[in-house]
Amino acid sequence: MTSPRLGTPLSDTAVRVMLLGAGELGKEVAIELQRLGAEVIAVDRYPNAPAMQVAHRSHVVPMTDAQVLNGVILAEAPHIIVPEIEAIATEVLVAIEQAGLARVIPTARAVQLTMNREGIRRLAAEELGLPTSPYAFAGSEQELAEGAASVGFPCFVKPVMSSSGKGQSFVETPDQIADAWAYAQSGGRVETARVIVEGRIDFDYEITLLTVRSLRNGEVVTDFCDPIGHRQDKGDYVESWQPQPMTDAALTEAQRIARAVTDDLAGLGVFGVELFVKSDQVWFSEVSPRPHDTGLVTLATQVQSEFALHARAILGLPVDVTRRAVGASAVIYGGIEAHGVAYEGVADALSVATADLRLFGKPEAFRHRRMGVATATGNDTDQARERAREAAGEVRVVSR
Ligand SMILES: Nc1ncnc2c1ncn2[C@@H]1O[C@H](COP(=O)(O)OP(=O)(O)OP(=O)(O)O)[C@@H](O)[C@H]1O
Ligand SMILES: [Mg+2]
Repeated sequence: MTSPRLGTPLSDTAVRVMLLGAGELGKEVAIELQRLGAEVIAVDRYPNAPAMQVAHRSHVVPMTDAQVLNGVILAEAPHIIVPEIEAIATEVLVAIEQAGLARVIPTARAVQLTMNREGIRRLAAEELGLPTSPYAFAGSEQELAEGAASVGFPCFVKPVMSSSGKGQSFVETPDQIADAWAYAQSGGRVETARVIVEGRIDFDYEITLLTVRSLRNGEVVTDFCDPIGHRQDKGDYVESWQPQPMTDAALTEAQRIARAVTDDLAGLGVFGVELFVKSDQVWFSEVSPRPHDTGLVTLATQVQSEFALHARAILGLPVDVTRRAVGASAVIYGGIEAHGVAYEGVADALSVATADLRLFGKPEAFRHRRMGVATATGNDTDQARERAREAAGEVRVVSR
């Protein structure tokens, strides 16, 4: 499937890796690839994106424009293409993969299925028979009203093409349907936003189960990281911790579900399988075919962070998912709208026991934009969460 031979960047032997999407997760992947001597090309739609700052080269292009995207891929001729975001003209990746021009991580089909909630939900629930929330799809307000009635209240309404909570509503009564439909139209990636309506799962907690497909002695093997617990606010993660305690039965079921989904999506790399858990019962929610934002905690907790795991796996190298500490992460938001912000309180943040920081270097801050993350370890997840929150709270984003 892949040659584990590595090369020298900027030479004939270089292994060229193109990141489509150059955000904070891509930045950490790029750093891990750099450490193994890969040649890294970062692509995003705005200049000076985080991963561009640690790449050999970068390109600023609209990745939803098939012709432009195809052009940049042909010009750079990468061996490996690593999509980091969902807003990509994925038909280009399908064609590139079919022509044998590059390997798409994990596979072009996986990237295409997971960018659309309908694709991945129908695969998980209808083809693989995995437990999910009750759901329906709708292309009009009328269909949404019918769908909501069939799944029951309360429910979640989400554009099928959106992420990070954009265009999502929590709907408690039928009279909120019209607003939910209108809001979904504003938050989706395409003009006529088709939506999924999902019955609310009354879970005890939710996890991300990082699942890694890598090559060991020429065979694809699947490894599971310890479960990551997290707290979401309006569809965006606020803090995460690892490990999330689970019953043996729930962990076994979570791994069964994650294996079924990732076996089907195939390819190499890290997947973030999002699951809801109530006692021993587990529901599949969605999956990222790439490192997951809640997995930033692994920078503090694992021998190989999810980014190191991804870099190794996609290069055809073996991985080690061993956890070395109990830890947590807490997000640092922009809080203000400004270009070229400064960070104060960093020394105080790093004076918190075990605390570490990543400041992503994003050129522009928005109120709800993730600008950095604090991590910490502890004797237990309560202590680690406390420390990570305290460190994150010390950092102040200010304009010049
Ligand atoms: N059916 C559901 N039942 C209960 N909670 C839900 C349901 N759907 C979504 N949620 C809550 O909303 C959060 C965001 O939903 P989801 O993961 O589908 O959206 P997203 O936009 O992909 O978010 P992200 O990009 O942060 O993963 C979930 O992590 C969960 O906390
Ligand atoms: Mg999610």
